[in-house]
Amino acid sequence: MPINEPFAPNSPFAPNSPFAPNSWEARDLGAMLHGFSHLGSLYENGPLVISHGDGIYVEDTHGKRYLEGNSGLWNMVVGFDHPGLIEAACAQIRKFPAYHAFFGRVSAPAVALAEKLLEIAPVPMGKVFFTNSGSEANDTVVKMLWMINRGLGRPDCRKILSRRNAYHGVTGVTASMTGKDYVGAFGLPLEGFLFADCPHYWRFGRDGESEAAFTARCARNLEAQIEAEGPETIAGFFAEPVMGAGGVIPPSEGYFAAIQPILRKYGMPLVADEVICGFGRTGQLWGCQTYGIEPDVIVASKCVTAGYFPMGAILVSAAFHDRLIAAAEEFEEFPHGFTTAGHPVGCAIALKAIDIILNEGVFENVVAVSPHFQERLRGFAAHPHIGEARGVGLMGALELVGDKAKKSPFPPEQPVAEQIANVALEQGLICRPIGQAIVLAPPFIITRAQIDELFDKLQKTLDRVLGD
Ligand SMILES: Cc1ncc(COP(=O)(O)O)c(C=O)c1O
Repeated sequence: MPINEPFAPNSPFAPNSPFAPNSWEARDLGAMLHGFSHLGSLYENGPLVISHGDGIYVEDTHGKRYLEGNSGLWNMVVGFDHPGLIEAACAQIRKFPAYHAFFGRVSAPAVALAEKLLEIAPVPMGKVFFTNSGSEANDTVVKMLWMINRGLGRPDCRKILSRRNAYHGVTGVTASMTGKDYVGAFGLPLEGFLFADCPHYWRFGRDGESEAAFTARCARNLEAQIEAEGPETIAGFFAEPVMGAGGVIPPSEGYFAAIQPILRKYGMPLVADEVICGFGRTGQLWGCQTYGIEPDVIVASKCVTAGYFPMGAILVSAAFHDRLIAAAEEFEEFPHGFTTAGHPVGCAIALKAIDIILNEGVFENVVAVSPHFQERLRGFAAHPHIGEARGVGLMGALELVGDKAKKSPFPPEQPVAEQIANVALEQGLICRPIGQAIVLAPPFIITRAQIDELFDKLQKTLDRVLGD
């Protein structure tokens, strides 16, 4: 079929909407193309059109309220109506609503935000480069690595190592670093993108293997892989402190302590993808602090603006920066950048978001309520269809199993995780299925009582879906 001919009206891809004409649902189905959305259930159940929010709750266009158990996409951590952030955005729009960061020009809030990020970085860092998203940030780091190696006279040092089940974004390059099968939909990964072991002990540990032995095996395999590929061909190693979109997978015990000496031995830069973990999610300000990671590059996004503005930020070490500048000399510039990156409104919002997280009790709240969150989460571990209840700080996942002893998932014809997410919606709870895991990452401002509300709703949901 020619690509420029629309589907016939009776095609399954041109569904007859069960929603009233002119309803938000019908209008959405008629107009929007959704990413990462199951098309069958989208056409059947319609989209969830949110009209507004307050605190940790959002409300749909029919007036139904939901506890946002995922902070949107991990990012709306200070709630959906924070007056300080709204005011910071409005004030900056009034003062100077837009500018760029090319040709050595820049707006003042971008400079102030770069300084602030360097000040709060988990390890000493040299410079900050802004993007509009986490994908753009990781993509940019790959280009930086390629350019540095070219400048160092080793243009063949281009391979990128990440891990199976990792998520680093959706651009051609960052999808190539994402260790998920669906990137095959695009004929990815690109050549030269390699995957090390996923350090998920519950899933990949062998019978009788201790967690320490599993970690040691991951480290040995990594070193063997580097040797087999040729260390001189690998430009860098990317890792999320906790694999978020992989299903909230904290590293196995001692994992980063075991792999960092190997990376150092081969002089391989370590890029910490803090897009989800950064700014408090793991119970420390950075995932790097929670797991003793000493990266050369940090990628941040999501919570940096509490989700109120698109932004990514790359923090590079002074040594990394120096090499990049040296490599750039041949071209008289670092030939890379995004029109709207370092946007003054986004930077003003980010400065305020960081202030709110650090100085208005938000980070303190994460530290205070996380143990209760983890305790309630782990309360589900005894359930006959929960194989693992895992998490750290204010993030967690319940891994569903058809057979607990065998750790085997439900068969594909039983999409239990999706059913749970749908029934949870009926209960007024937004949670997210990832594979066969139910993932939770509530806003940082959640109270102890609201954590109970979240898990009580989830319990009712599990009883309904898995009860018998
Ligand atoms: C660890 C990680 N890196 C990168 C990204 C990509 O960020 P974005 O969706 O802003 O492009 C995500 C998004 O969820 C992420 O979780």
